Amino acid sequence: MSRTLPRTLQVAAPGTLGSMTPEESRLLDKLDLTRLPRHIAVIMDGNGRWAQRRHLPRVAGHSSGTKSARITIETCARLKIEALTLYAFSVENWRRPKAEIDFLMQLLRDYLRKEMPLIQKNDIRLRFLGRLEELPDGVQRDVREAAEKTAGNQGMTLCVALNYGGRAEIVDAINSILAERNGSHERLTEERLSKYLYTDGLPDPDLLIRTSGEMRVSNFLLWQIAYAEIFVTETLWPDFNRARLLEALLEFQKRERRYGGIREGETSSEKPARVAVQ
Ligand code: FPP
Repeated sequence: MSRTLPRTLQVAAPGTLGSMTPEESRLLDKLDLTRLPRHIAVIMDGNGRWAQRRHLPRVAGHSSGTKSARITIETCARLKIEALTLYAFSVENWRRPKAEIDFLMQLLRDYLRKEMPLIQKNDIRLRFLGRLEELPDGVQRDVREAAEKTAGNQGMTLCVALNYGGRAEIVDAINSILAERNGSHERLTEERLSKYLYTDGLPDPDLLIRTSGEMRVSNFLLWQIAYAEIFVTETLWPDFNRARLLEALLEFQKRERRYGGIREGETSSEKPARVAVQ
């Protein structure tokens, strides 16, 4: 099955990224701004190791990671990426020490308050993906308010995955469908299930970035990343910056995307040089 994605994306204007280092300019020059991913998902990993290497408490890595989040969000918004999803807290992260969980929750609340001007300036719409009803009351209130305040924005959608699990999301979707059935025997299709996922209305991620070198998906967007290109970098999340993001985008543009089909221009009557890979 071949799939062509509609390009609804406006092309970012040159100079959009403001002042740049020579390395960033060199990378940006190589980038084809008409072929950027529509949706980028990021597993922000390595905060603890970053802190450990500096003999700092783990939470210092999380604090430092907010700077990488900021630069990634602003750069993607300015490049007119349609959606960016950041994995901030998984359903498994409740297994961490309470002090670290409390710190992460407070960090998110502070972040939303502090970064709201940047979010509004860049016309970003905020969405939160996950079992939000299980979060502490104050966090629930803040994320609801942040989503409401930015609901009318027209730029990039920034999704923060919070108390998120890919399997939990699929189970929640199926339970919602069962609850709505009312005796109907409508068949379940991929399209119908997609409408009940937290990401309803968003394109599937084209690019999944994972920092800190781990080759795992970690229960992130299991349904949605079916055909995402995966980019794993050894860089720890607090060291992830604009140059590293541009490198990930360049790598994405080198990939040949076939969605289980065969290469463009290649016909099945030709002797296959290699069998189409799923
Ligand atoms: C993984 O590193 C990171 C997290 C569980 C939290 C991610 C949160 C932030 C970066 C805070 C900023 C983000 C937003 C959206 C406010 P780890 O602790 O698992 O690192 P390790 O694998 O080296 O231990």
